[in-house]
Formats: sequence, C-alpha cells, structure tokens
Amino acid sequence: MGHPLNIRAAVVRETGGDFRVEDLQLGAPRADELLVRIAGVGVCHTDLICRDQVYPVPFPVVLGHEGAGVVEAVGEAVDDIAVGDHVVLSFNACGACLNCLRGMPSRCLGIFEANFACRRCDGSSALAHGAEIINGHFFAQSSFATHAIARRANAVRIAADVPLALMGPLGCGIQTGAGAVLNNLRPGAGSSLAVFGCGAVGLAALMAARVAGCTGIVAIDPNPARRELALELGATRAIDPLADDPVALLQATGGTDFSVECTGIPAVLRQAVDGLNVTGTCAVVGAAPLGSEVMLDMNSLMFGRTVRGVVEGDAVPAAFIPVLIELYRQGRFPIDRLVRFYPFEDIQRAIDDAEQGRVVKAVLVPEVDS
Ligand SMILES: NC(=O)c1ccc[n+]([C@@H]2O[C@H](COP(=O)([O-])OP(=O)(O)OC[C@H]3O[C@@H](n4cnc5c(N)ncnc54)[C@H](O)[C@@H]3O)[C@@H](O)[C@H]2O)c1
Ligand SMILES: [Zn+2]
Ligand SMILES: [Zn+2]
Repeated sequence: MGHPLNIRAAVVRETGGDFRVEDLQLGAPRADELLVRIAGVGVCHTDLICRDQVYPVPFPVVLGHEGAGVVEAVGEAVDDIAVGDHVVLSFNACGACLNCLRGMPSRCLGIFEANFACRRCDGSSALAHGAEIINGHFFAQSSFATHAIARRANAVRIAADVPLALMGPLGCGIQTGAGAVLNNLRPGAGSSLAVFGCGAVGLAALMAARVAGCTGIVAIDPNPARRELALELGATRAIDPLADDPVALLQATGGTDFSVECTGIPAVLRQAVDGLNVTGTCAVVGAAPLGSEVMLDMNSLMFGRTVRGVVEGDAVPAAFIPVLIELYRQGRFPIDRLVRFYPFEDIQRAIDDAEQGRVVKAVLVPEVDS
C-alpha cells in the first residue's frame, strides 16, 4: 500500500459548519500506530460540540471518535495486533501521568490535549489536502473517514464474529453510559436509578442498570420516541420533563438511589441531584460548555448526597469493551436497538437526524473499493 494514502474524509472548516466529504491524503502509521479501514463510525454529541467550538478544536478538522474497522497496516513497534484484526477505537490517554500509571486512563491528567488537540503530541498531523495540513488525531483516530490512523494504545482488538460496524459506538457513547453505571455507580440489585436524557449515552446507562439488577429504572426525556424506546429497553417508568416535574415524581417515592445526568444542561443536573434520596449519588456525564456553572442547595449535599463526574464511563476500554460485547451476544445489551446505519457520504443527513432527535445513534458506513 502506497503512502500517503488517498482517502475520503468529512472535513469541518468553520464553527458550526457542515461536514463535507473531501479527498484527503493520509500518511503512514508511525511506530506505535495502526492504519485502520473504517467499517463503521458512530456520531456522538461530542463531535457536534467540537464542530460548534463548545470544546475548542482547531479547523479545518476531521472529527469522528467512535470508529471500528479492520487493521490494514501496523507500525514497526506494534507486535500484538496484526493486519486483518478487527478493532474498536476508543479515547486516547497520555499513558505516562500518575492517573494513567494508576490504571485510570479516563482520569488522565492530559486527557484534553490527548483527545482534542487534533495533532500528535509532536505537533504533526497525518492528514493533508494537497499542501494544506488538516487537523486530525481527534481522540487519536479522526474516524469520520474511510481510513484512520490510531494509536495501538487506543485500539481494542475484538472478536471477528460480531457485526463490526455496530461496535464503533462502544468506543465512546455506549461505554460512557454503561460504564458510568457498571464501573462508577455500581448499583446493587434492587436499587433505583434515574436517567436524565435518553440519547445513546443515557440509554446505554439504562441498559446497564438493568444488567446490574436495578428494579426501579426511571427514564426522563422530552422526546416521546426516546421515552418509548427506554420503556422497551427496561425502564420501569418514563417521565416527560415538559409535562411533569421529575423531582416531585422521584421524591414522591423517597428519591432515587442513583441518577445519571446525560444532557449537559445545568438545570437538569440540579434536577438529577434534587431527585436523589438523602444518600443518593449522581453521576455527571453530559458535556456542558467550559465554564458552565450549576446552582445546588448546599443542604441537599450536606445530608449525604454525592455528585461526581465520570468521563468515558471510567472504562479501561481493552477490559470493558469485551464485557459489553459479551452482554450484547447474550441479548442483555441490545445496542442494535439504538442504531441506524447511513452511507458515509450522507454524513450531514445523519448529523441532522441526530440533532433533530430522529435517530439515537447514527453509524456511518464507508464503502471502499478494495
Ligand atoms: N462524560 C463523557 O465521557 C461523555 C462521553 C460521551 C458523550 N458525553 C456527553 O453526554 C451527553 C449525551 O450524549 P448523547 O450522544 O446521548 O446525546 P443526545 O443529544 O443524543 O442525548 C441527549 C438527550 O437529552 C434529552 N434532553 C433534552 N432536554 C432534556 C431535559 N430537560 N430533561 C431530560 N432530557 C433532556 C434530549 O432529548 C436527548 O434525548 C452529551 O452532552 C455528550 O456530549 C459525555
Ligand atoms: Zn495520562
Ligand atoms: Zn463521544
């Protein structure tokens, strides 16, 4: 295979701009990197907030951070993954800070730089459009593309007998919601949990609550189709926050043991805390603009409530993604119910559908002549 490789990739060139598919050139993988042919890549809300500069990224940029695909080449230092292997690409971490060394990559002290700088740590980019450098390496993948350069460290080899394109969202949104419950909150059987915001992240949290044995699972979302899906996936109750006050309804039965905030809206975080029982715990998962503040009644915390942030479901992806795949195989984690596939070239339509709430998890499927 010659390098640079001619690929197709969706480029965002301005704040809030469209994702336009362009012909780009992709350099060869470096020693610790992989070249991956993308089989499917999910659209996550975080791609959209980067397009909008809510989280600042440099333009022009190729986003996309829920890629799954087939390894086409490996760097010379990679000896435990081979051409032809199936991989899910997840988030990046520095690997060297204290929290990485403690086995907590999602708490990496350099996590923003590692995922949002859109360059390798030496400042280079593998992506170009002729003489123009295109920012890439978003979440060490930039997988809104036919091909991506990933690091060995953020690639998880998976079994070849599960639908590869469907597995991409495990790398971020699905792992985030499921891990917030299974890795962080760890509810006991019989406990109660409320999910605020039933997008892919919230619905993954909800499915995980069912796996954990929660018996009271409340889904809160203004979108009726998402409430309906939540009930089908195991919610025991659904609340429309535009029609009813979720806090009053949760407190009518003493408050919920756990809540997961999956909207990134400060007023919803307040509800997710106020709806807890007196020793309940709220996981903050939704991404809000940098500097967003939330108002809480200090007394609601003083008596024993806990609020804590969770990034990427506190997951070590190489350990957690296979767990989610096994649950999927057993029919206990039906992520296929959230997904609709779109041809990669229709990325803007997929993103419009995601933003309008018409699809929970859009997955783009590139078609490559090979
Ligand atoms: N912490 C992390 O590591 C991490 C990782 C991935 C995504 N995220 C963030 O998680 C959030 C959810 O991601 P997603 O892809 O599921 O997004 P999404 O937009 O599909 O889901 C958000 C849901 O919130 C609902 N909502 C809107 N207003 C509401 C209200 N007042 N009450 C209850 N629900 C309301 C929407 O109808 C929608 O269904 C985003 O903010 C995303 O950026 C965080
Ligand atoms: Zn680190
Ligand atoms: Zn994401």
